[in-house]
Amino acid sequence: MTQSPQRVAIVTGGARGIGAATAQRLAADGFAVAVIDLEEATAKGTVDAIEAAGGRALAVGADVADTEQVEAAVNRVATELGAPTVLVNNAGVTRDNLLFKMTESDWDTVMGVHLRGSFLMARAVQKHMVEQKWGRIVNLSSTSALGNRGQTNYATAKAGLQGFTKTLAIELGKFGVTANCIAPGFIVSDMTRATAERIGEDWDTYVAARAKEIPVARPGQVEDIAHTVSFFVSEGAGFVSGQVIYVAGGPKA
Ligand SMILES: NC(=O)c1ccc[n+]([C@@H]2O[C@H](COP(=O)([O-])OP(=O)(O)OC[C@H]3O[C@@H](n4cnc5c(N)ncnc54)[C@H](O)[C@@H]3O)[C@@H](O)[C@H]2O)c1
Repeated sequence: MTQSPQRVAIVTGGARGIGAATAQRLAADGFAVAVIDLEEATAKGTVDAIEAAGGRALAVGADVADTEQVEAAVNRVATELGAPTVLVNNAGVTRDNLLFKMTESDWDTVMGVHLRGSFLMARAVQKHMVEQKWGRIVNLSSTSALGNRGQTNYATAKAGLQGFTKTLAIELGKFGVTANCIAPGFIVSDMTRATAERIGEDWDTYVAARAKEIPVARPGQVEDIAHTVSFFVSEGAGFVSGQVIYVAGGPKA
């Protein structure tokens, strides 16, 4: 389905994993999609897949934690694809460690990408949404927001994103903009593969152990999250705002 005029979505961290699946899903839903990632060459792979399926997309290399790079990236999207009115703040990193071993750099990096990055992106994109009196913001939280051993930095950032989302919903609602949060549970991606590797567990054993704890008895897939993003950004979801939905195969983390 192609909307008219075609709306433009930005997905950060869209080079791989949840972001890549989301970018492809939004393109299939009819959006032109800008894929912003630290790794422009890998982001181009997502763009190629979208174009091969008949969609419109643009790869932009940028660090979401850097003000100038964010401003330049959003300006480029507006010029080359059109004014962005959908923003999916998905870029993420982990720097796990128990508190007594966590460095300032582990803390600052995680806060920088998730919190500062989502703030900078939302601030840069909101003017287009306000001008068009329509917008959709989706922020990626995590079940780790409820607390997770070894992740004081990440859990704090992901909990922070929930407060950020609710405040965006309050400030921007009168401009036709909704803001919502998705908190995934265990999803198969490079991020979780890296975690298994770091703790020295065989991947298949690690996934099987996670799946055992999940009521629907399977690990989450990137498409599970893309599907939820698709709902939040849809036309019909205009009365759903400031919400956090746990997409975790069950009620608990
Ligand atoms: N995989 C999971 O189980 C899971 C669970 C809960 C939440 N999440 C969240 O979902 C999001 C996506 O996770 P994923 O598993 O697909 O991760 P991933 O590691 O597979 O991909 C993350 C992408 O973000 C990009 N990125 C990192 N820092 C960036 C920066 N400063 N600027 C621009 N791009 C940057 C990376 O280059 C990468 O392409 C993250 O916010 C993550 O915290 C993931």
